[in-house]
Amino acid sequence: MTDHFALVPAAGSGSRMGEPLPKQYLPLAGRPLLHHAIAALCQVPAVRRVYVVLAVDDGQWRRHDWTSLEPKLRPLFCGGASRAETVRNGLRAISGEVGALDWVLVHDAARPCLAAHHVERLLREVGEDDDGGILSVPVADTLKRADTESRIAATVPREGLWQAQTPQMFRYHTLRRALDRARDVTDESSAVEALGLRPKLVAADATNLKVTYPLDLRLAEWILANRER
Ligand code: CTP
Ligand code: MG
Repeated sequence: MTDHFALVPAAGSGSRMGEPLPKQYLPLAGRPLLHHAIAALCQVPAVRRVYVVLAVDDGQWRRHDWTSLEPKLRPLFCGGASRAETVRNGLRAISGEVGALDWVLVHDAARPCLAAHHVERLLREVGEDDDGGILSVPVADTLKRADTESRIAATVPREGLWQAQTPQMFRYHTLRRALDRARDVTDESSAVEALGLRPKLVAADATNLKVTYPLDLRLAEWILANRER
């Protein structure tokens, strides 16, 4: 039997948010934003451990109370200069605790509205498929390609286009191999695709948004408040 582990890259600085505090520590519904992302993963019985990869010089983690997320939670202070490097460092750090065929679910710390049912669906639909899979949503808007003057150069057919989210779920050995070869990828899947694999697209929904700009934080607050009711 294979096990499932989660790995949460949380070593970014949140520069587009424009706050002095990295966005993963900004307050959201009474907790640091990061707490919500980890909590959803900890709630899923099949997920054995949740590794959070923090910046080497992270000074915020120990200021908060994480005890409600024990015993699954494990902080690792080995983040890198890019998201891919943070994930790569995290995977290296857990090599002694995770088997080659075990599953790793990589999830952005900046997606606090992930729900346990999203994760359950990913696990169910990927199952033991060696190519893995990712949460995603079909593109709903009509897409335009811009020229250098912000005028429309072309309309891009949206048919067959999906927006990638996280978690992205792959076997440990596949992820290691993919990320050791890939440079500058913005998600794990693109590194895995470069190996010739065809990860599954598993439909989630727009509530699993990534907090990038201040408005996203307001939206996340609204989503969490309306879910709890
Ligand atoms: N991340 C990371 N290590 C980095 C850069 C990013 O672990 N060196 C993480 C972030 O903490 C976040 C996720 O990767 O959970 C997605 O990245 P993004 O939304 O781009 O976050 P930041 O890089 O922090 O934000 P920005 O790009 O605005 O600076
Ligand atoms: Mg970034």
